[in-house]
Amino acid sequence: MNQPTNPTPNDRRHHDGQTPIVDVHLGTDDIDKALRMDVEVGLLATPKELPPKWFYDERGSELFDEITRLDEYYPTEAEREILVEHAARIITTTDAETIIELGSGTSDKTKALLDAAWANTTMHRFVPFDVSEEFLRASVDELADRYPGLVVHGVVGDFDHHLPYLPTGDRQLLMLLGGTIGNYQPAERRVLLSTIVGRQRTGDHVLLGVDLVKDVDRLERAYDDAAGVTAAFNKNVLNVVNHRLDADFDLDGFEHVARFDREQEWIEMLLRSTVDQQVRVEALELDVSFAAGELMRTEVSAKFRRERFEAELQALGLEPMLWLTDLAGDFAVSVSRVR
Ligand code: SAH
Ligand code: AVI
Repeated sequence: MNQPTNPTPNDRRHHDGQTPIVDVHLGTDDIDKALRMDVEVGLLATPKELPPKWFYDERGSELFDEITRLDEYYPTEAEREILVEHAARIITTTDAETIIELGSGTSDKTKALLDAAWANTTMHRFVPFDVSEEFLRASVDELADRYPGLVVHGVVGDFDHHLPYLPTGDRQLLMLLGGTIGNYQPAERRVLLSTIVGRQRTGDHVLLGVDLVKDVDRLERAYDDAAGVTAAFNKNVLNVVNHRLDADFDLDGFEHVARFDREQEWIEMLLRSTVDQQVRVEALELDVSFAAGELMRTEVSAKFRRERFEAELQALGLEPMLWLTDLAGDFAVSVSRVR
């Protein structure tokens, strides 16, 4: 990967923001409160369901990182190919002064874009935003070292609640990479995207990485790898509930299920109870029964088609500008302009 160009003495990137900033809007108490609410609602619902944001404690983020290196999990390398190939075009089209990345994780692929933006000299601020504080802090430090003079302003928060705390001002490019927008069901996705459009100004841009509909076997293998890393990632949500809410989920009593729903065009990850069992969630004073064979959904990962996706963007006030795919046509990066 290219090294960033060194800033010149007159460069506008030279201001006082050299030390990375990290705003934390999600302390331990907030996390516990939000988790309590989601677990209570999710375990009392029929069918039971837990939201995917709870995969990502430190262990879950490590497991996700491992998933991105699996042969079966093609989205990461496909998106990297697109970003490397088209970084300059994306940067010229958006001409952003501030780049915001929601669900930034390690911001690894993002470096392809940041290298191009840094060479272009317009961008002076990068704002990674993630629920996972350890990973965010590590990537903020790494990026501040890699781009001396770039303002790196990390935000620890939940994008379902804390978007209003994002820095304002500048011509902005706001991104969700990796297909994270697909982890929202259609109604919630529209809420998130309209909240995003509501906070951005005319002429800002939104970049969304989206996985595309394809052969069902390949899709299902990407979410049920031979080494069992995705299974461990899926079950990690039970560990999170055990540790944070003093629950007694027995991980051996559940098995990982990943299946493509052809009607909804999404992968569902579920946990199947292998036996009749009772689970106690002490912090909620809650006892929950699982029947043998009962399924609890932990994630959907929607797969998209260009026409429908761009129509959705149009309806939300976004003007599609670029639709970039990898050579194999597995994944797409959509760039649209806020009207
Ligand atoms: N963008 C990276 C990581 C994708 S994994 C990539 O493309 O590889 C999804 C990321 O979103 C994780 O880092 C997770 O911690 C974060 N995340 C998931 N739900 C979130 C939420 N509700 N608010 C903030 N971050 C969230
Ligand atoms: C973060 N997100 C886009 C991943 C996906 O593919 O939906 C999470 C994931 N779940 C299982 N494997 C990866």
